Amino acid sequence: TTVSPTGVGHEGPKDGRDPRAQAGDALTTPNGVRIPDSDHSLKAGPRGPVLLEDFHLREKIMHFDHERIPERVVHARGAGAHGVFTANGAAAKVTRAAVLAEKGLETPVFVRFSTVLGSRGSADTVRDTRGFATKFYTKEGTWDLVGNNMPVFFIQDAIKFPDIIHAGKPHPDREIPQAQSAHDTFWDFVTLHTEATHHTIWNMSDRGIPRSYRTMEGFGVHTFRLVNADRETCLVKFHWKPRLGVHSLTWEEAQIAAGVDPDFHRRDLYDAIEAGAFPEWDLGIQVFPDTPEETFEGIDLLDPTKIVPEELAPVQVIGTMVLTGNPTNFFAETEQVAFHTGHLVPGIEGTNDPLLQGRNFSYLDTQLTRLGGPNFTQIPINRPHAPVNDNTRDGFHQHGIHTGQAPYTPNSVDAGSPFPSDWSEGGYVNVPRAVSGEVGRSAPASFDDHFSQPAMFYASLTSVEQQHVADAYTFELGKCYEQSIKERALTVLAKIDADLCARVAAGLGLPAPSPEPVEHGESPALRQI
Ligand code: HEM
Repeated sequence: TTVSPTGVGHEGPKDGRDPRAQAGDALTTPNGVRIPDSDHSLKAGPRGPVLLEDFHLREKIMHFDHERIPERVVHARGAGAHGVFTANGAAAKVTRAAVLAEKGLETPVFVRFSTVLGSRGSADTVRDTRGFATKFYTKEGTWDLVGNNMPVFFIQDAIKFPDIIHAGKPHPDREIPQAQSAHDTFWDFVTLHTEATHHTIWNMSDRGIPRSYRTMEGFGVHTFRLVNADRETCLVKFHWKPRLGVHSLTWEEAQIAAGVDPDFHRRDLYDAIEAGAFPEWDLGIQVFPDTPEETFEGIDLLDPTKIVPEELAPVQVIGTMVLTGNPTNFFAETEQVAFHTGHLVPGIEGTNDPLLQGRNFSYLDTQLTRLGGPNFTQIPINRPHAPVNDNTRDGFHQHGIHTGQAPYTPNSVDAGSPFPSDWSEGGYVNVPRAVSGEVGRSAPASFDDHFSQPAMFYASLTSVEQQHVADAYTFELGKCYEQSIKERALTVLAKIDADLCARVAAGLGLPAPSPEPVEHGESPALRQI
């Protein structure tokens, strides 16, 4: 068996069998009673009815009947791997989080790569965003960097997440998956909510069909706040850079792979690790001053539909991750792992990005259902590698056996009852931040620029890549039944690039709308990069 650096699945004897479930040589019931016959039900005579007293039959079938847990509401299909992250010390000035700051410190990680819209059994090489979620088992608690392989997101406010996902997932009536491949509701959404234009053009580019999980970049997307030992703060964006470089499939390759081997990416990751070709990524940060405006060079750092070009803020490498171990049990590890943007360690904080704030509610909430109650941090893959002493009690699937009388802190009943550690002892203490404003549902005006960065992205591509983008829009929009949606999509493309719009219009057999002036305050400087 492969070595799992996190130790999950390796608590049993050397033969890899878990003594809690696979001990002894004889077949038993879950209660340890030896079973000599598991192929025939207990009956009243060879041709008689099956008897209710057959406890083995009932227990065996009851357990089978409940083998499935709900798939994730998004990112249902994924593949995971264990590995190690090693900090190079470059982040010591900006954060006190040892996982990032301590030169040479090795932190075990578990990574889950995923598609977003397909179900658990869907094909790997579809055009979609890919999840890139990393769980760092740090000595200061668990930190999750729950990112994607694209640096921007479709929406600016989490309140729209159910809507964009409903627009992309299967129709209620026909259960035909929308993905970016079938089609009206997805294109209806992204052309009515034009903040989605930037993420959509990334999807339509070669980034939407990666060659391998091993050749994908990863992005934290949101801006995060780092805090150093002197309680000084800066704002950062996280980037994973694959040592193998970024590679994509052509559309034709993706189609063939989906038919010939729907598990193409899952197999590729597993086989590479099994063969010892361990995939590696550098983790880098773009660093920005933590100003009250939370902008950099005119770019709103709280807007998750915007990037900061690397020409303006270079990515500084702060460590390297290598994936060295396949899961020994897909369900126990890849399926049950629970990532959460709110899993932070001292020295790393979130920001007021309204998408991030909503995610901080959503992950815990969905896992409560998906993993059957509030005790999922006790599942082996989710267990922190730091001591836990949390005063929680009971609940479904509780495996901890808490003792003592007083599950509250401080108390004067249980001797030695712990007090929370403070800042100086490594406790998580948020840096003070002023909050002001009138309660309301409005967004900042800077969130209205939906087109200058998609235009910049398109302009940055080679002519071959641009043709791939035009072909992708033409194919995907060609699947729409509603002419009005195609026409609206062309008006959006006209705001990105007139030539792109003309090519797609020609492909769809529709007139290209005349280029309109961009309505919203775009940043002309960005077009020049
Ligand atoms: C799952 C990334 C936005 C809700 C995931 C996963 C990733 C991810 C990588 C898969 C985790 C895994 O492998 O288990 C992102 C990124 C986002 C984003 C990068 C934007 C920047 C949102 C928003 C919401 C949301 C806005 C809700 C308001 C969920 C839910 C799951 C999920 C419910 C399933 C979690 C589970 O069942 O364990 N997301 N997501 N995501 N995401 Fe997001």
